[in-house]
Amino acid sequence: MTTLRRFCCNDLLRITTFHIDHLGETNSLSFFISYLAAWTNSFHVAVAPCNRIMGYILGKVEGQEIHKHCEIASVAVAGEYGKLALVKKLVDRLEEVTDKIDKAFYMDVMVRPSNTVAKEMYRRLGYVFLNRLSNPGEGDWLQLRKALSGLLALSEYISSVQPSAADVETVPYDVDDDGSSWLSDDDDDDGTNAFLMR
Ligand SMILES: CC(C)(COP(=O)(O)OP(=O)(O)OC[C@H]1O[C@@H](n2cnc3c(N)ncnc32)[C@H](O)[C@@H]1OP(=O)(O)O)[C@@H](O)C(=O)NCCC(=O)NCCS
Repeated sequence: MTTLRRFCCNDLLRITTFHIDHLGETNSLSFFISYLAAWTNSFHVAVAPCNRIMGYILGKVEGQEIHKHCEIASVAVAGEYGKLALVKKLVDRLEEVTDKIDKAFYMDVMVRPSNTVAKEMYRRLGYVFLNRLSNPGEGDWLQLRKALSGLLALSEYISSVQPSAADVETVPYDVDDDGSSWLSDDDDDDGTNAFLMR
């Protein structure tokens, strides 16, 4: 059985033995330590019954209010545990913590354009393409994004309080020559003026 738990200091030396291919951008010990110190909640491991680390995921929560989000900084599954959909468990866990505990609005991840496995994997997990970014000396990255429950609820609320384009087009409004009013009270038999003023 696989156990998912938060990453702890003792795990540090155990994950550096991970064989990560060049597209996974092998990370240094100081990289992991800095994430562990700053974003403890966003660093998780999957552990096998024999206590071996099967995979890990780490992210950083940044931004304020509606821009608060978690960027997946690294995710990897050890070769012998590959193709078991373990990565979905790790991503699901980080999304859940980000949504429920950090109360952030969306997830972001950067993927190399040539990392076909990761692109397809994130597509299946509900991530959509947002941008292609180029940093001099660093090559290109694809920015992928997934909305969490707070953002979905907010967008549902906005569409429920905002009249749709179809509603607005059917309003028989009249603009006076001086532009002072959209609709005279006399013309408002069907209550559309009252609707717009709500
Ligand atoms: C990408 C990665 C996290 C996928 O983890 P996983 O738990 O094996 O994922 P899944 O079991 O859902 O498999 C997803 C796909 O990965 C590919 N894959 C996974 N392990 C593989 C292996 N050992 N050999 C070849 N392909 C493999 C397959 O294409 C699979 O698709 P399929 O189900 O149609 O066969 C893992 O391969 C990995 O650690 N890669 C190196 C680091 C990396 O690229 N991280 C993502 C950067 S953002």
